[in-house]
Amino acid sequence: MSEQMDERSYDEYRVIEDLGGWKRTHSCNELTAANIGDEVLLMGWVQFRRDHGGLIFIDLRDREGLTQVVFSPEHNTDAHERAHAIRSEYVVAVKGVVRARPDGMINTGMKTGEVEIVVDEWKLLNTSDTPPFAIEDRTDASEMLRLKYRFLDLRRPVLAKNFILRNKAAQSVRRYLDGRGFLEVETPVLTKSTPEGARDFLVPSRLNNGEFYALPQSPQLFKQMLMVSGLDRYFQIVKCFRDEDLRADRQPEFTQIDIEMSFTDEEQVMDLAENMVRTLFKETIDVELPSEFPRMTFAEAIRDYGVDKPDVRFDLKLQDVTEIFRGSDFKVFGKAEVVKVLRVPNGGELSRKEIDEYTKFVEIYGSKGLAWIKVKEDAWQSPIVKFFSEDEKAKLAEITGVKPGDILFFQAGQADIANTALGSLRIKLGERFGLIDEKAFAPMWVTDFPLLEYNPDEKRYVARHHPFTSPQPGQLDTVSEKPDEALARAYDLVLNGNEIGGGSIRIHTPEMQEKMFKALGISEEEARSKFGFLMDALKFGAPPHGGIAFGLDRLIMIMCGAKSIRDVIAFPKTQKATCLMTEAPGTVSSRQLRELGIRLREKKEA
Ligand code: AMO
Ligand code: AMP
Repeated sequence: MSEQMDERSYDEYRVIEDLGGWKRTHSCNELTAANIGDEVLLMGWVQFRRDHGGLIFIDLRDREGLTQVVFSPEHNTDAHERAHAIRSEYVVAVKGVVRARPDGMINTGMKTGEVEIVVDEWKLLNTSDTPPFAIEDRTDASEMLRLKYRFLDLRRPVLAKNFILRNKAAQSVRRYLDGRGFLEVETPVLTKSTPEGARDFLVPSRLNNGEFYALPQSPQLFKQMLMVSGLDRYFQIVKCFRDEDLRADRQPEFTQIDIEMSFTDEEQVMDLAENMVRTLFKETIDVELPSEFPRMTFAEAIRDYGVDKPDVRFDLKLQDVTEIFRGSDFKVFGKAEVVKVLRVPNGGELSRKEIDEYTKFVEIYGSKGLAWIKVKEDAWQSPIVKFFSEDEKAKLAEITGVKPGDILFFQAGQADIANTALGSLRIKLGERFGLIDEKAFAPMWVTDFPLLEYNPDEKRYVARHHPFTSPQPGQLDTVSEKPDEALARAYDLVLNGNEIGGGSIRIHTPEMQEKMFKALGISEEEARSKFGFLMDALKFGAPPHGGIAFGLDRLIMIMCGAKSIRDVIAFPKTQKATCLMTEAPGTVSSRQLRELGIRLREKKEA
């Protein structure tokens, strides 16, 4: 086929036809050698057209995959001639017979790679503009462009498969919970603030000017109300809204698998949740998770991994060497609240440039530096060992068990900064040295969380989980006397270093709830105005209850092996919380603002 002919206008063939009763027999990812000789009818999008020695080939695509289709002049002259008009992303229906591809044309990397369809008849169902990027699994289009044309991006089978998996997962969860007596109950989206630690999204009320609804950060209080109502077991696959800084694993609206149960304790909730996750992995991706998920207390997690969501796919642990350096001549260590060290076996190959990058990296967490020691056969190479005494060196060598070729990294200072910084560096180093088995799934419970944490901005203690979480037995007085030490009946499920779920046993008596509000410095009036309905409900026979919520997007991301939750959310938002496709958020008319009783400080009205 000459170039010239190829560029001819085939407008006369671009006539859009009706389906006219045609029905698909197969998807585009179904036909194999077993179908050879079958008469089939497929519909889909044209991934691309190639003209070869008189034959025209197209790859026909639907959400399942691709099938090769051939138009042959010998087989059907008219069908072949009209096929010259086909362009990328045209929508076509083809009827024909499945045949084996000739030797040398077999594509073993493709489910349908052994066969092709020779077209008897075909219909043009729609034309398409030239897409702004080629719609293929591998694309170099920027994420910005892909999000603007998300409807095209989602045509790529790699992305479509995430949504097929997501659906399978949601169905598995529903079956599991339905089978155990959980009722799926919907809760309001226009509601009052639920404190989960983020900023609220607010919705102004037209009928009550000057008043606002908050979108739920979670259905926390409603699910507790449902327990007081006696519904006993609740779940919901539900949107939650949090106005917080976005990251790869955070979206302003995301989906929870939200669960609450009555007459229960932590063991029962964890047991149910663990079984649900095991069933989910088995049914969705055929992965057997361990028959019992390991558990670790919060204190152990921080001690050994520096963070409360340890990635236990690899074994490196932080060590505490504070005591060795207490009062040391090296003031950075000698005066620090804690000194933690991480030994990386055979890490000595790291270059100065890499170490400098890691030093920059730990600064994100508020760290002021990154001390290191490279252990050589005959000496320790480091900017800091000259400040160490022989005794300090000997003890350090003994505790860490260093061998030549290793590197040690240190964080000294305030405990939370040092732990988070070194714990986060641990993950980077795990990746750098290939220590993480990317195929492994390592679920783990973290338990015994502190009930409260000090918020330096607000200069007061706030609930670490939420203010409805019960303290551990006998700790109610600790709450007011030693707020740092009180532990919560709370648990998180961690998978491969991601927090995928968290929950707690709730406070179910008004007395304890009042004490808790008091410990949090929430006045009676404030408690009344924010949570009056909860205080009322607790007075009318609230059963002991507790629950958990999973981040569905994060779970699916991990199951798909995706790097960002944006890849498992059909229409995600950007880092700046905008939707590039709809261009939300947008301005509104001055009339709408007037109705809401709102005047903008900086005028930006449409
Ligand atoms: P929590 O705040 O821990 O608990 O949230 C539960 C789970 O939701 C996921 N998650 C998110 N996923 C994506 N983007 C976000 N911005 C985001 N924020 C949270 C996480 C997290 O583990 N009401 C309580 C649950 C309970 O006590 O039962 C709650 O919302 O995977
Ligand atoms: P300085 O005395 O500040 O020049 O630091 C000496 C070495 O200690 C440098 O390698 C710094 O990167 C490192 N360092 C400084 N502050 C800390 C810290 N808080 N934790 C760990 N290492 C640090």
